[in-house]
Amino acid sequence: MSTVSPVQTSSDSYNEVPYPGAAFRNTHPCHLGMIAHLLNLHPTTPQRCRVLELGCSMGANLIPMAVGLPNSEFVGVDFAEKQIEVAQKSVDALGLQNVRVETKSILDIDDSFGTFDYIICHGVYSWVAPDVQEKILQIGAENLSENGIMCVSYNTYPGWHFRGVVREMMRYHTENIASPAQKVIQARGLMKFLEDHSRSKLEAYTTLLKEEAEMLAKSDNSYLYHEHLEEVNEPLYFHQFVKRVDQAGLRYLADAAFQTMIAQQFDDEAAEILRNAPLLRREQYMDFLRNRMFRSSLICHQSQSPNYNVDATNLLGLHVGLRNQLRTVSEQGETVVWENASGRMTTEFPLTSIFRRLSNSFPRLTRVDDLLSDTTDNRVRQTALDALLIGFVRGMFTLTLDPPDFALELNEKPKSSTYARFQASSGAAKVTNLMHIDCVLQPQQRFIIEHLDGSRTLDEVAELLHEECSNGRFKVSREGEDLAPDLEELKDICKTEAKRLAHFALFEE
Ligand SMILES: C[S@@+](CC[C@H](N)C(=O)[O-])C[C@H]1O[C@@H](n2cnc3c(N)ncnc32)[C@H](O)[C@@H]1O
Repeated sequence: MSTVSPVQTSSDSYNEVPYPGAAFRNTHPCHLGMIAHLLNLHPTTPQRCRVLELGCSMGANLIPMAVGLPNSEFVGVDFAEKQIEVAQKSVDALGLQNVRVETKSILDIDDSFGTFDYIICHGVYSWVAPDVQEKILQIGAENLSENGIMCVSYNTYPGWHFRGVVREMMRYHTENIASPAQKVIQARGLMKFLEDHSRSKLEAYTTLLKEEAEMLAKSDNSYLYHEHLEEVNEPLYFHQFVKRVDQAGLRYLADAAFQTMIAQQFDDEAAEILRNAPLLRREQYMDFLRNRMFRSSLICHQSQSPNYNVDATNLLGLHVGLRNQLRTVSEQGETVVWENASGRMTTEFPLTSIFRRLSNSFPRLTRVDDLLSDTTDNRVRQTALDALLIGFVRGMFTLTLDPPDFALELNEKPKSSTYARFQASSGAAKVTNLMHIDCVLQPQQRFIIEHLDGSRTLDEVAELLHEECSNGRFKVSREGEDLAPDLEELKDICKTEAKRLAHFALFEE
């Protein structure tokens, strides 16, 4: 029998309006472990670890992790049995032996679950009653291994004071409606009415409504329902959350969006003031400055001693890659100015060759130790490590701990990622790649991922596609326009698309 708390978002609401979820890269053990490693802790390698996800819904986050890390063990719990049924079907269809999903309340987690190196609780904490919130942190205290990292996300203030205005109006407008589907229709209607007709002397109010209306127009009904129409949604200030973490006998470690902790993201005057503030106050004031709405906090045991003066040598042991491909802005011998969506950086000899290597292997991640293996001069090594750390802080590079590998060069019979293939064959437009990022695919890309299962060549997939097109069962299109390619053209399309998909980390090594 599962326990039900007195004030509760019951499992009924999730059985009626399921929450499909998604892959959240910031909750992946390779990401959590990377942050712990940077801060001088000793996280368990994601390649051999135990992971627990609380409120795992249909497994969209947990299951691709389990596929990518076959030697690790994954446990997911959720009290909505319909969601767990879907998760179980995926586990069975994929034949996974390393993941267990259970219909269970968070309140019922006990010692029998054992300890975990990583505990994930994403999109749950703010939406449950106080006793469940307390239990979530208690699970951290009791079920997290000594070096373990827990990731808990929640809605936060001051940002939610603004978003909460919309929620309160929607709740008032729909309070007498029983059907969730009708509630959503009415809530969307109210938003449109407010956006079209609001009149206020306060310009900020009109802007707020417009921005929220735009955001909600792009959101699906399950998000709108569970975020704005559910009974419980308790945002809290960062400092309040940290106090609860402390009371549970745990320690706040870092933000999952690690770069948000860096004061240099503000102007010089603010950065100077923030830098002089203790860590927790600095983070709180940065939320005030950003009007932050959502946080994903990493937590560890109080016995852990993180070092926040990150030493660039801590990058050794991690993998590094570019967040987006680099472009050369100017090149004079070995002095090169590089640019990507995150900013500019100038390199000179010998850093330039390291950047070139990263650029050539994009989007693959390289072990930092291997990247520097030819560099024997200690001063040069240190300069390179410093540059990589600065690039990471600026968002140019991504760092990760022991990630799953993927293929950039396709062999004769390429094998698409097992999980993405499973999603594509279920007709999903969005698939999760081997870097745990969701990608939206065109129909012909889906077809290629579905059929490149390691048993066919690209030409054989093109022949299959040709057959489907000839029978009128499939249409190849580009930018919304239907094409009628012959077999040779389809072979070219398959080659080009497969190459592009390999760059989305969608093929196994
Ligand atoms: C908003 S959804 C988030 C799902 C997923 N973690 C994500 O972020 O996409 C909240 C999930 O927590 C589950 N949940 C809420 N209260 C729970 C409880 N007491 N025990 C177990 N699961 C719970 C719900 O069924 C739902 O799947």
